Amino acid sequence: MSKSITAKGLNVYYGDFLAVEGVNIKIAARSVTAFIGPSGCGKTTFLRTLNRMHEVLPGARVEGELLLDEDNIYGTGVDPVTVRSMVGMVFQRPNPFPTMSIRDNVLAGYKLNGARLSRGQADNIVEKALRRANLWNEVKDRLDRPGSGLSGGQQQRLCIARTVAVEPDVILMDEPCSALDPISTLAIEDLISELKEKYTVVIVTHNMQQAARVSEKTAFFNIAGTGKPGKMIEYDDTSVIFNNPANEQTERYVSGKFG
Ligand SMILES: Nc1ncnc2c1ncn2[C@@H]1O[C@H](COP(=O)(O)OP(=O)(O)OP(=O)(O)O)[C@@H](O)[C@H]1O
Ligand SMILES: [Mg+2]
Repeated sequence: MSKSITAKGLNVYYGDFLAVEGVNIKIAARSVTAFIGPSGCGKTTFLRTLNRMHEVLPGARVEGELLLDEDNIYGTGVDPVTVRSMVGMVFQRPNPFPTMSIRDNVLAGYKLNGARLSRGQADNIVEKALRRANLWNEVKDRLDRPGSGLSGGQQQRLCIARTVAVEPDVILMDEPCSALDPISTLAIEDLISELKEKYTVVIVTHNMQQAARVSEKTAFFNIAGTGKPGKMIEYDDTSVIFNNPANEQTERYVSGKFG
């Protein structure tokens, strides 16, 4: 079940270093939102707070509230492992478990949780997830071969299948196409457009055409200088951010006059 995301006054620290400051954003359920901005402005850092991956690093912490629908994922007593099962993540480099079969890669989330599945249940989950990731037809005859035997684009779709297999509410993607060729990139972009019918999707991308193609809303982040915190500068409909932004920094960035 797709959920909305609301950040209220979110500050993100690495030790004493305030990396991202004061983010307020409301992301609707069943939508695709792009995060754009120059390197080092905190896109990845902020994204990783959305499923409590940030705090895995020693000294890393978050202030403020982050709601999934109405529930603060940083509330007392909330288990980060539960949060991560509701908010899945796809990384820049496809990272299937190399020695595991395609089938076991899709089931990896269940295995990590110690779930017991019958052969039939497992088969259903595998087929459904691979179909949802637009990969089923390409791999259905070699489910027991290693995931590492797939092309880069197929591996990334396998990682997406692994993420959707556990039925998350939200899918976070950090530059999911940056290691892929243009054809694989288009396949992933098509897939993202389909995924939003069921999930809330947030994607970090350096490719502005990609942001324009796949997202309905775009958040532009910027940084005033080295050592300064990144901030969300503007958040609006993607067409507004690219064609008629309100903020001069956004305008400079999207028109390529940055830096
Ligand atoms: N593990 C870490 N420890 C300390 N500081 C970090 C760590 N990871 C990132 N930072 C710092 O946090 C700031 C934001 O980095 P982040 O990786 O979020 O930027 P980004 O917008 O994703 O950049 P890019 O577009 O290059 O991926 C930077 O100043 C970075 O050096
Ligand atoms: Mg990044």
